[in-house]
Amino acid sequence: MKQSGKLMLLFLIGMVFAECKSNVNRHEIRKIPEGIIFGTATAAYQVEGARDEDGKGESNWDHFTHKEPCPVKNCDTGDIANDSYHQYKRDVEMMRELGLDFYRFSLSWSRILPTSFTDKINEKGVQYYNNLINEMLAYNIQPMVTLFHWDLPQKLQDMGGWTNPYIVDWFTDYARVAFELFGDRVKYWFTINEPREICYEGYGATSVPPTLNISGYADYLCAKNILVAHANTYHMYKKEFQQSQAGTIGIALSVIWYEPESEEYIEAAEDARQFSWGIYANPIFSKTGDFPEIVKDRVADKSLAQGFSRSRLPELSPDEVDLIKGSSDFFGINHYTTYIIYRNSSSIFPTPSFYDDIGSVFYQKETWEAAASLWLKAVPWGFYNALTKIRTEYDNPPVYITENGFSTRGGLVDDSRIKYYRNYINAMLDAVEDGSDIRSYTAWSLMDNFEWTEGYTECFGLYEVNYNDPSRTRTARKSAYVYKEILRARQLDFHYEPDITVPITIDDGH
Ligand SMILES: *[C@@H]1O[C@H](CO)[C@@H](O)[C@H](O)[C@H]1NC(C)=O
Ligand SMILES: *[C@@H]1O[C@H](CO)[C@@H](O)[C@H](O)[C@H]1NC(C)=O
Ligand SMILES: *[C@@H]1O[C@H](CO)[C@@H](O)[C@H](O)[C@H]1NC(C)=O
Repeated sequence: MKQSGKLMLLFLIGMVFAECKSNVNRHEIRKIPEGIIFGTATAAYQVEGARDEDGKGESNWDHFTHKEPCPVKNCDTGDIANDSYHQYKRDVEMMRELGLDFYRFSLSWSRILPTSFTDKINEKGVQYYNNLINEMLAYNIQPMVTLFHWDLPQKLQDMGGWTNPYIVDWFTDYARVAFELFGDRVKYWFTINEPREICYEGYGATSVPPTLNISGYADYLCAKNILVAHANTYHMYKKEFQQSQAGTIGIALSVIWYEPESEEYIEAAEDARQFSWGIYANPIFSKTGDFPEIVKDRVADKSLAQGFSRSRLPELSPDEVDLIKGSSDFFGINHYTTYIIYRNSSSIFPTPSFYDDIGSVFYQKETWEAAASLWLKAVPWGFYNALTKIRTEYDNPPVYITENGFSTRGGLVDDSRIKYYRNYINAMLDAVEDGSDIRSYTAWSLMDNFEWTEGYTECFGLYEVNYNDPSRTRTARKSAYVYKEILRARQLDFHYEPDITVPITIDDGH
């Protein structure tokens, strides 16, 4: 999880007010239809620790967090000596306390393949994931596994990372090893988590490694290679593993909702959606495939006007369009927040750049409830609008909500998080009533964790982690009790108040 707040901060000054279509709080107790499964999520670098233990190779995040001067708030790192790598049993205990149907976590490529390649498999790293998966399955909690949640082996980063087209082979080879090792037990696979954040924040901007800051160019190369690597892996799974393993596989996109400030900006908002996530969704989920027309045309026109000999957006060949089209069994959505957008042609962004290509300015309203993260405000109707858009634009694909959550600065009584979860799940149920084919909901996150460049200052956990305690004790927050009750009763009760003086326990059957 992570979306840069830096640019957006510029535009936080409260402005004109657009009408919101709020469906929230319509029902006091609302049944959750059968067939939607509930879980929580984490990512390897954010929780595992054990940075160079047991033969693990160096990842780009290991490398980045140890740079001088340190690039992360408070010089925090994900090194943490005894975090989830050692505490997986406690992690599974928390999942049982919550009564989860599934848990979504990611594999660390460099823990499994320390050289980045398949010449050497790190048995101890494999053992850790086997332990975690087997412990979960012993209690009937389904593993949902993300192959890539941002921690690229540093060696591959040195070779250009996601801008090098050979990453298609590197990623496919790594994925095959993961399917061979774990696919007998893992039935839900995600190839890549949040391409927008990887490409834009890492290659176009400076908020995550490799902090290239080559916007309007490297971010587009990254987008193409991610799409091809994802699709190649998808087809490899279908061809080599589907028959024996019978799992489902897809991608998780970060879907930000952009709402026009007024009717005048309907097109501007649509542009922003197409640039921000349509660039990944259209090639995979649309009938025609390929990058969205508006993105192709805009970048081509601007590139020519700027004196480039060709478009800064790489082409997808007809074969690549075919390879990518339809290459996901479901639409995985990480959704957190909404922005208001309006057009401003006198660009305030560098030229060329991704945001200059979009040609609009966006901001969040000060009246929206703010999280600890600067970029995150609670706008449940934006979630409803995003789900509606995905249903209508891509022919109602099966949807897995792969992340959704709210950050605080800590503390066990987290009423703002509870309100966020209730209102967002309520908005999701509105979309379900309208016909959206939603199969799962995932709360980010099971526990507090390393929030990328914000270090440990922003807490997304249903469980609080005490970072001052050497054994990293985890304590259920009020939101954990509420989430548990939603899952147990399969209903949203806006008035349910848990007694948090009573320790959270594991119910029968878990
Ligand atoms: C990123 O590049 C822009 C020019 O496109 C420059 O103005 C800016 O200072 C750079 N940022 C960093 C952190 O290097
Ligand atoms: C539009 O961009 C120009 C140039 O940076 C800036 O001076 C102006 O304030 C912007 N207008 C609005 C409404 O934000
Ligand atoms: C965590 O590590 C500390 C020392 O770093 C040790 O004292 C403690 O026992 C460890 N706890 C667990 C649960 O491994």
